Amino acid sequence: MIKEIEQLLNDQIKYEAKASAQYLSMACWADTRGYNGIADFFYTQSEEERVHMTKLVKFINERSGNAVIPAVDKPRDDFKSLMELFETFLESEEFVTGKINNVIYECLQHKDYNVHNFMQWYVAEQLEEEATARTLLDKLKIIGDDKSGHYLFDRDINTFQVAEEPK
Ligand code: FEO
Repeated sequence: MIKEIEQLLNDQIKYEAKASAQYLSMACWADTRGYNGIADFFYTQSEEERVHMTKLVKFINERSGNAVIPAVDKPRDDFKSLMELFETFLESEEFVTGKINNVIYECLQHKDYNVHNFMQWYVAEQLEEEATARTLLDKLKIIGDDKSGHYLFDRDINTFQVAEEPK
């Protein structure tokens, strides 16, 4: 595996680990404030990010590279509102998308079409996760500060038509 690309994939492991830890922290925030539906949503998101991370770990190791498991900084847990919680979700996904786009760009520069092909799954996944984050934020904007709206949002969040993992 091309060393520069291996390094970028190892960096990507760190970003996925960071997202997983962030969403676990967001699940805790929601869980301790009575938002059980939102907590379940972020527990699931956290697990999905771990899967994204592990997929990269296995890919690197299977191609004679060395996956490095990173230390992860303490994630944010100081959210002032549901709006801030979901803005953080969208920001996190946009950040990861930017990093994936950079990996794709570098794959093309190095003519590494193997990794380029592997990364297409992440491109599709990011499209869906950003769409989910935007849909949920849009709903929260409609609800505003209405407490009964927040109650219904929490009750229904896991039934909204949000995107699924690509196959
Ligand atoms: Fe795996 Fe949502 O970034």
